[in-house]
Amino acid sequence: MKFVRIIKLILPVRVFEYVKQKKVQFILQRNFKKAYEFDMKRYLKYSDSFGTNSAQQLIGKIVREYHVIEKGLTMPDPRLGFGKDLLLSLVDNCMQYIQLFGEEEEQLRHAVGVIWEYEQFHEQQNFNLEDSVVVSIQKLKNLVSGIPISKQKEITANDYFKYVESEFPQFAKSRSSLRNYTNENVPMKAILSALDLARTTPSACNRQSWRTYVFEDKIHINSILTIQGGNRGFGHLTNKLIIITSEISVFSSVAERNQVFIDGGMYAMNLLYALHYYKIGACILNCSNSLEKDLKLRVVCDVKESEVFIAMVSCGIPPVDFKIASSYRYELLTKNTIK
Ligand SMILES: Cc1cc2nc3c(=O)[nH]c(=O)nc-3n(C[C@H](O)[C@H](O)[C@H](O)COP(=O)(O)O)c2cc1C
Repeated sequence: MKFVRIIKLILPVRVFEYVKQKKVQFILQRNFKKAYEFDMKRYLKYSDSFGTNSAQQLIGKIVREYHVIEKGLTMPDPRLGFGKDLLLSLVDNCMQYIQLFGEEEEQLRHAVGVIWEYEQFHEQQNFNLEDSVVVSIQKLKNLVSGIPISKQKEITANDYFKYVESEFPQFAKSRSSLRNYTNENVPMKAILSALDLARTTPSACNRQSWRTYVFEDKIHINSILTIQGGNRGFGHLTNKLIIITSEISVFSSVAERNQVFIDGGMYAMNLLYALHYYKIGACILNCSNSLEKDLKLRVVCDVKESEVFIAMVSCGIPPVDFKIASSYRYELLTKNTIK
């Protein structure tokens, strides 16, 4: 303290304030670096970026893979024989899981059911799967028995929107990602009503960091969705595309470094409910991008540098009937939930 007082006497006020500010900045940056390094180490340690060594990592990969197959089975116009390499990988991963950890895990059992459904779907279409796929599925059959075939949901638009004005439990259970749209226009008025309702989202200290951009030009939408990449088979049917970002500028300090994503994510969920309420078919699409992809997307979407991508939502009017990916949910694990 004495040293600081002496420096303060020697230095001109402006220089002293500048040095003081630099010191605060230095400490802050060091704290940020520490926190981000801590986050990074934990992410590298537990995510499956370096391979699937634990049961949890392997299940994560299995769910990712079976969900792509599920989506393929529900596409407006599925390509026969789709996802061959993915299916082979899924079968391998399921077999590995069963050999290492058994066959009781709920998602593993659903994954096996999806593999059976994939096979049945092609049989019903009189399509001969490639030998490698047939052999691989047979190996899995030799390993497990008694796992039921899954069934993707088939629904009419009337039933899909039947509960929009019901009590919340029924309403919430009736929402699901919709990946099939007609070429009917979604009125901008309906989108704005949904955005208005989504403003009710709670946020940390009411900072409402979310921002939305609505695209309606087909060419523009296609160029965005081409970069996004997770919309094959249905993205081209999108009538309106909503980009959700979240503004960093309203947050402060190391402690809030993830708040921009948390508040943005909460908004995204609320928006999905709002779109469902206004009978707009919607599928949220990830913006978990590599650096290169993020930079490209920023240019095409023209979002501010101070904003981060949260997700995008493809919207459209559903046809009379369509399929929905079953997206199996875990049972409520009260054993781990109540502490
Ligand atoms: C952040 C986020 C990103 C998603 N990205 C995609 C995507 O890129 N493509 C896609 O078809 N579905 C995507 N989904 C939809 C999920 O597949 C879907 O929400 C999940 O399977 C649960 O099904 P449900 O929405 O029908 O309840 C995404 C969902 C979330 C929450």
